[in-house]
Amino acid sequence: MSKTITVYSTRGGSGKTITSVSLAMSLAKRGLKTIMIDVDLEAPSLIHLLPPKSNPSRFWPDYLDEGDRVQLGELIQQTSMDNLDVIYTSSPEMGKKFLQTKQRNWWEQALKHSLMAQKKLYEMGYDFIILDNQSGTSMNSVNNMILADISVLIVRPTHYGVDATETFVQELYRILRDMKPRKDYFVWNQVPDVSTPEEQDLLNRFIDKWNRRLEGMGLHYGATLPLDRMFNLQLLNDMVEAAIFSDSLVGHNIDEFVDKMLKE
Ligand SMILES: Nc1ncnc2c1ncn2[C@@H]1O[C@H](COP(=O)(O)OP(=O)(O)O)[C@@H](O)[C@H]1O
Ligand SMILES: [Mg+2]
Repeated sequence: MSKTITVYSTRGGSGKTITSVSLAMSLAKRGLKTIMIDVDLEAPSLIHLLPPKSNPSRFWPDYLDEGDRVQLGELIQQTSMDNLDVIYTSSPEMGKKFLQTKQRNWWEQALKHSLMAQKKLYEMGYDFIILDNQSGTSMNSVNNMILADISVLIVRPTHYGVDATETFVQELYRILRDMKPRKDYFVWNQVPDVSTPEEQDLLNRFIDKWNRRLEGMGLHYGATLPLDRMFNLQLLNDMVEAAIFSDSLVGHNIDEFVDKMLKE
């Protein structure tokens, strides 16, 4: 049965996009037909990270606005990787205009359009839809959480990061969980390397405390991704596949996470 995974964090720069791409590549390389949608209207970035083979003319915000008047097929772009397609959001201008001006009824309509796209993509044979979500608590972010069967919450080991996550989870997931069965994971990202037992102990104290709190809220532990210098440098040079597929710890940990996710 096809599934939708929404990748979310309360703050920008946490690693949503990079985790979305890693998850999508890990699924695609197993032969699972996967499509990513850049649903971050505020800070879209997939078009840079994973460039399309040809220049797209229509984008995800067009579909949110117009629904079926836009052919879904026109939005879908192939990537250089087998089994991995993408629907892009171009520049932030269009999405930002929607975020600033559209009222509640427009977002309700946008949710209906998204659900329609989801159904059609499943009918087209996609096994997984990965939504690279927008941070914060906009109607857009909430809609994309509603679409998810599985959500992946990216948390960085900083106080403000996990505090904000806790508030968000308490407010939103309580409602979402009554709507349909779902599984929500949290993933630690950019975890610093420690070299002495004392450093390890300090890190563990923080992480263990928050693991318990997040698990107490019904979230499931997903993975721990290290702050990886080489990975970051490769990304700065647009070497996405190299970054994710080399023996990078990020890619390795994501593969293990996907193994676990597929079993559950
Ligand atoms: N585990 C990591 N190790 C090194 N750099 C990372 C890691 N995770 C993210 N980054 C870097 O942090 C930046 C923000 O990541 P990104 O996935 O774009 O965040 P978001 O989508 O949440 O805004 C990127 O430049 C990325 O290269
Ligand atoms: Mg992003």
